[in-house]
Amino acid sequence: MRGFILGVIITLLVLGGGAYFYTTNGHFDTRAVGNTPSAFERRTANKSVDAWVDDHAPKQANPFQPTMQNIMDGSMTYDKNCAACHGSVKEPMSPMRTNFYPHVPQLLNDTPDDPDGNLFYVIKYGIRFSGMPGWDGVLSDDDIWKAVVFIKNSAQMKENSQPQSQQNPQPTDNKK
Ligand code: HEC
Repeated sequence: MRGFILGVIITLLVLGGGAYFYTTNGHFDTRAVGNTPSAFERRTANKSVDAWVDDHAPKQANPFQPTMQNIMDGSMTYDKNCAACHGSVKEPMSPMRTNFYPHVPQLLNDTPDDPDGNLFYVIKYGIRFSGMPGWDGVLSDDDIWKAVVFIKNSAQMKENSQPQSQQNPQPTDNKK
């Protein structure tokens, strides 16, 4: 029995040491560009984020109604802090989207249907092991709730911006 336990311990040490040697000696590709999480890694990571957020996010409705003023306020916060990664009304697919590991969801192209409280929580605290920072201490809770109002209602903004861009065509529009 002692021999067996010793065998298990030595095997674990060799595996751990091997993994440490492999990763710290230039064999582990640390680039974000060109690497994409496997389906297994994505599924496991998404499940653990969903489970944690479901357990910890505030179970409350958004304190801000989708009035034009709140949507506009939210869009200002979003454009300044989020659009470079998540896409904007003008450019719904950010050129940065695939340069992250994992890739960045394009929130204006594919509106998330999670409860507002879950989105608020993710924005406030960020997502570990990803490029999503937490905005706690940088944006006020009110600004975060309004950014959520904007994200949820952005499809409407895109429709509203349509006639404008038709009246006022940008020379670069057809390249996008
Ligand atoms: C530096 C790039 C970057 C910035 C800036 C950024 N994010 Fe993110 N965000 C990410 C990445 C990467 C993910 C994906 C994380 C993952 O897949 O686990 C993400 C995920 C999210 C999600 C979860 C989406 C989903 O479908 O589950 C929300 C919501 C979100 N971000 C909102 C925001 C808001 C609002 C801002 C601005 C206040 C912002 N992000 C700023 C990179 C960024």
